[in-house]
Amino acid sequence: MAQDDLNWKTFFEENSKPNHFDENVKLISEVCQQAAIKKLRVALITSGGTTVPLEKNTVRFIDNFSAGTRGSASAEYFLEAGYQVIFLHRSKSLEPYSRHLVGRSIFDMIEICPENIIVGEKHQAEMRKLTEKYQHYKSNLLMISFNSLSDYLWLLQATAQKMQILGPLALLYLAAAVSDFYIPASQMPCHKIQSSGGPLSLSLQLVPKMLAPLVTLWAPNAFIVSFKLETNEALLETKAKESLEKYHHHVVIGNLLHSRKVYVLLVDRNNSAPEEIRLSDSELESGIEIESKIVENLKIRHDNYYANHKTG
Ligand code: PMT
Repeated sequence: MAQDDLNWKTFFEENSKPNHFDENVKLISEVCQQAAIKKLRVALITSGGTTVPLEKNTVRFIDNFSAGTRGSASAEYFLEAGYQVIFLHRSKSLEPYSRHLVGRSIFDMIEICPENIIVGEKHQAEMRKLTEKYQHYKSNLLMISFNSLSDYLWLLQATAQKMQILGPLALLYLAAAVSDFYIPASQMPCHKIQSSGGPLSLSLQLVPKMLAPLVTLWAPNAFIVSFKLETNEALLETKAKESLEKYHHHVVIGNLLHSRKVYVLLVDRNNSAPEEIRLSDSELESGIEIESKIVENLKIRHDNYYANHKTG
């Protein structure tokens, strides 16, 4: 067995399944089976950061940066593009539709009338639009949440495997911020680490790169898009290309921490020139989100992929 195989298999042997795993996998499986019968496209969108617990009874954990904006906004645009969406997200990170209300108090949006409560006049139009969209698309949206890295990887593996039934109708959009380091369960203390023990030194192990088994074993016929997050612009294109060369999936979307809402770089497997998506100031001012353009671009690429693979 190759070292890489050993690593990812060992990860799942050493880290147990999350709570409610079987129920969630059943829901995922039902979505995939129904979509396969009706020949509908399904997008798995991963979103939010993964935590790495320091204790089994977790008081403290290390987190990966992500608010869930990319994933939750993209989910809305994939729904509008006709996809069934499985939204695998960090618990309490941004979610499709409700994200638009985050940071505002619901109590400031409602008015008390003698016999009932209503949405205040100045919020009516926005709430109507959001509620209509939510109600229109909610039957096409399955939301599954995770907290830890291990929970995320278990659910990612299971979802990808269930999506195999869809062949090239499946699209995986890996926007979650996934930790590269963790503490194996066997090396994790059971109880809260005591400060009376003095300064804390941590030794973190490398997380096996799950893109490798994902592409070759779990979802070999799906159209797979991963994100590459960098902070140094000079590295972005090279790192995105390296990822594609290493894992042989379909598209890597490079983004920089501070410009991720206005600029991304798409690198594809056919080695054609990288494609930039950049929002202009006027687009930004008019409320256009970069995710609408990313999804529009990927839909065309997925159409082509499907056209080339559906008879295979
Ligand atoms: O949510 P927002 O605030 O809007 O932020 C969005 C985002 C910046 C988090 C998002 O656009 C993004 O870039 N997500 C990917 C972040 C990330 O994990 O990048 P990476 O370079 O560490 O990993 C690259 C790829 O390897 C990812 O597809 C990841 O799923 C995969 N990976 C990572 C670790 C691991 N152990 N196994 C993996 O397969």
